[in-house]
Order: sequence, then C-alpha cells, then structure tokens
Amino acid sequence: MTEVLRRIDCAKEYIYKWKSEDLSIGFVPTMGCLHAGHLSLVERSARENDKTVVSIFVNPAQFGEGEDFNEYPRDFEADVKLCREAGVDLIFAPDEASIYPDGHSTYVDVSGLTDNLCGRARKGHFRGVCTVLVKLFNILKPTRAYFGKKDAQQLCVVRRMVEDLNMDLDVVGCETVREKDGLAMSSRNRYLGSKEREAALCLSRALNFVEKVIASGERNVNAIKSEVLGFISNQSGVRLDYFEIVDACNMRSVKVLKKPCLCAIAAYVGKTRLIDNFYYE
Ligand code: PAF
Repeated sequence: MTEVLRRIDCAKEYIYKWKSEDLSIGFVPTMGCLHAGHLSLVERSARENDKTVVSIFVNPAQFGEGEDFNEYPRDFEADVKLCREAGVDLIFAPDEASIYPDGHSTYVDVSGLTDNLCGRARKGHFRGVCTVLVKLFNILKPTRAYFGKKDAQQLCVVRRMVEDLNMDLDVVGCETVREKDGLAMSSRNRYLGSKEREAALCLSRALNFVEKVIASGERNVNAIKSEVLGFISNQSGVRLDYFEIVDACNMRSVKVLKKPCLCAIAAYVGKTRLIDNFYYE
C-alpha cells in the first residue's frame, strides 16, 4: 500500500513508527513528473531498505528568475500510479506553504563546489536544492537517499553537505538512465517537440564525441573543448550553455585531463535547458 501524505506532522508520525520498529528508510527526493530514471532510484531503494519514501515537491527555491518554475511539468496522478506500481511505501507531497511558511529565513549554502557548472549558470540553484533537502532529510530521517548521476554536481554538493553537517544518512549515486537513442532521461524532455527531441540528442552525441577525442589520446582540456564547440556549433536549434571538464572531487576546472574527471554539458534546445555528463574515471 502506498500512502500519500501532504502534511509534515503526518509524515513524521509514519517515520517515527518505522524508526521505532528499527526499519531502514530509503528516500528518493523528486520534483515529480516521474520517469524511468526516478524509477531506477526507487527500485534500488526498495532493494536496499525496508521502506521507500518518494517526495514530490517542485521546489521554488531552486529556480531562478526567468527559469521554468511555473511551466515545470507536473503530473501528480501519473506519479502516484507509478509509485504504487513500483511498491513505494510513502509519497510525501507537501505544499509550498508548509515547506516555506511565512518567516522562513534559513538557507543552506555549500561553497566552492557550487562556483562552477550549473552553480555558475544558475545562481542560487544549489542553495535552494540544499535547503529543501535538509528540510526533507529532517522530516523523513532516511537511512539512505538516492540521487541520479545525471545531476552530477548536485550529487557532489549533497555528499559534501551531508558530510559537513554530520548528517546521519548515506548518499547513494545511481547511473543515468537513457532513452534507447542515448538521450538522458529528464522530466524536462517533456517540453521537447519532435524536432527538438531530435536536436536534444546533440548532448549525448557531444559526450560520445568527447569520449572518442579522449580515446584518441588528447589530454589538453582546451583542445578538447574547442573540438566540442566545433561539434555543437554545427547543430541547429541548440545553444550551448557550457561544456566543462572538472575534477570530479571538487568541481574545479582542470587544464589537463586526469582521473577522476567529470565532463559536463548544458545546452538549450529551444527554450529547454538540458544537462548531461560522463565521468572519466
Ligand atoms: O533533482 C531534483 O529533482 C531536485 O533537485 C531535488 C533533489 C528533488 C531537490 O528539489
């Protein structure tokens, strides 16, 4: 049975009961509009924990001005159905006023790791992500929390935050799930019209291209970058936001490729901003 709860106190009651029975709790935080990528996190959580909780909350604090908070796809009924089929024990779907009541004034900032990539391109984004996650972790007290590697910087920032704040949970990173043709799963893929859907393949193709350039022996990051810029500039309907190669441990740009690195790309396909990456490790 999948319980759907909107109130923080009700969710806490469930959690306290499970904790008192010494049950482990796996947690998959989401903004809804669930796809196979989310479901792979749910499956892993269900394998590794006694109970699995999914949160569905489109977090306003992680969207900047001019970003797609209002348009962000929402499909609560479909999400509940998918969670039921996947055997989720509890869906926690709070409203905005209970997560950010009047007077809410505390935010969590992870410095350094957020200066580059999406942290640079989306000012305040990770502050919003970290703040909501601390709140959700405090409410749901998970034993383990599951994140996709597609959001590689998010995963790195969350690991840092959990360690820095001595939070009592394991952060588990899970492989990116892709469509058959290579497009990384994302709720934002729903925005794409058929031409844009085709153009969106440019991200995974650019990363495949990078892998080939690396396999050919190139280690100079500027040289790799200029090859990628050339590759992307030939793709119509795509505007590169960034392509960066960073140290996978601290998200700092590197000049020469060395393991472990993260090769990360963000691009606008029409109005839709998509990201993808691969780890060179
Ligand atoms: O990755 C996401 O969907 C969000 O950033 C998260 C982790 C649910 C926080 O709102």
